[in-house]
Amino acid sequence: LHRPISRRHVLRTGAAFTALSALSPARMAMADPTGDPFVLRAASGQAALRPLPYGPTNVWSYSGSVPGPEIRVRQGDRIRVLAQNGLDEGTTIHWHGIRTPNSMDGVPFLTQDPIPVAGEFLYEFDALDAGTFWYHPHQRSSEQVGRGLYGPLIVEEADPIRVDRDLTWMLDDWRMTRAGQLSDDFGNRHDAMHGGRIGNSVTINGEIPERISVQSGERIRLRLINAANARIFGLDFGDFEPVVVALDGQPVTPHAPDGGVVVIGPAMRVDLVIDMTGKPGEAVTVTDVFYEGLEYRLVDLVYGPDRLRDSVPDWSMDLPPNPLAEPDMASAARHQIVFNGGMMGQMMMGSGMGSMMDQMREGNMWFINGEAATGHMMDPLLVLPQGTSHVFEMDNRTAWHHPIHFHGHSFRVIARNGQPTRYREWQDTVLMAPEERVEIAFAADNPGDWMFHCHILEHQAAGMMGVIRVE
Ligand code: C2O
Ligand code: CU
Repeated sequence: LHRPISRRHVLRTGAAFTALSALSPARMAMADPTGDPFVLRAASGQAALRPLPYGPTNVWSYSGSVPGPEIRVRQGDRIRVLAQNGLDEGTTIHWHGIRTPNSMDGVPFLTQDPIPVAGEFLYEFDALDAGTFWYHPHQRSSEQVGRGLYGPLIVEEADPIRVDRDLTWMLDDWRMTRAGQLSDDFGNRHDAMHGGRIGNSVTINGEIPERISVQSGERIRLRLINAANARIFGLDFGDFEPVVVALDGQPVTPHAPDGGVVVIGPAMRVDLVIDMTGKPGEAVTVTDVFYEGLEYRLVDLVYGPDRLRDSVPDWSMDLPPNPLAEPDMASAARHQIVFNGGMMGQMMMGSGMGSMMDQMREGNMWFINGEAATGHMMDPLLVLPQGTSHVFEMDNRTAWHHPIHFHGHSFRVIARNGQPTRYREWQDTVLMAPEERVEIAFAADNPGDWMFHCHILEHQAAGMMGVIRVE
């Protein structure tokens, strides 16, 4: 991670830029909760990922757009979505990060049967938490999500913080051929053993953007969602001073990002408040600096000719907390969770070793406590009595980053490498650096069988998943 040096510049006049047409994905407010459900239809289609004059790319999408329509409701509303399967294979929809009853969690063979070809399934649950969430299939996720099946789910607070604009940027990373089509090499062994399917074309809301216009003096709430299979973003907003106000949909003490860079692993969300403090006519480049030596310009934010206000507003950035059950640290049971596998990793020595070697012969490359779960053989790793509190002491004994996601619950990230975290942030997906140890704490209050997995979708497919049962 490092910051590039020059970031603010005055836009060269006459430069040929195309403006990003969709500042936010197509929005669809929920239908009347008593009326018809909102329909999401998964099917193959086309998307204009690349700017003109390039032609469209063949994708799989929800209701004809990448990302799928933004579902936007108020906290407490009932969400009712009829999922229709227009694909040639089974699918499901998982509601990432928002608490649902287990039967609505969308995990094939665990919480429901796959929705068959030409079939449908009604998802229905109350939006208990406000925040930035998303939806995606949980079946053959590497390919289904990787071909474009995903969309934002935004739950507005009853009393939201004041901003001039509320924008969603759903980030994705595609592996495209020179002809502008998606490379077909989903599920290859090399990606699975390394950092997953890293692509070569990054989109915001389904477009490779050139510039986005902003207004001098305005305050923007920017909801970032990383829908990429594997790419981790580290966004440097140049001269802006973004304030992090929520992580994975859950409010956090407003703070500047570490080192000025907003890091967001696959499946994670970051809500930022940004005051546009530049002058009309200026432009600021947003750069992705996560992978050293591979920094690139994501997009230019270009100030229009008008000025909205002269000073930074003093409006509060504190979001109201969600009604999550607080873990009881005094009684919490502690569990060791060790991640192994991949290229260049140290294997667990001793008794687990031989078993992992056997499992590798069956195509598994990643292990949780020495076990890989592929296919649908998912016996629980742990059984937790409902209402009890738990600490997972997670140990990444691999040479790779892993965004570790737990379904059905948010957890507090309480320590990293033995040091207490500053904000004890609530997350549903925590990014673990190579060799890092992370402790998370949560109250097991949502009964059912819940997936616990790496959200680098190629790691998940190669065994890096398990089930935690709450009963
Ligand atoms: Cu975003 Cu198990 O998923
Ligand atoms: Cu991983």
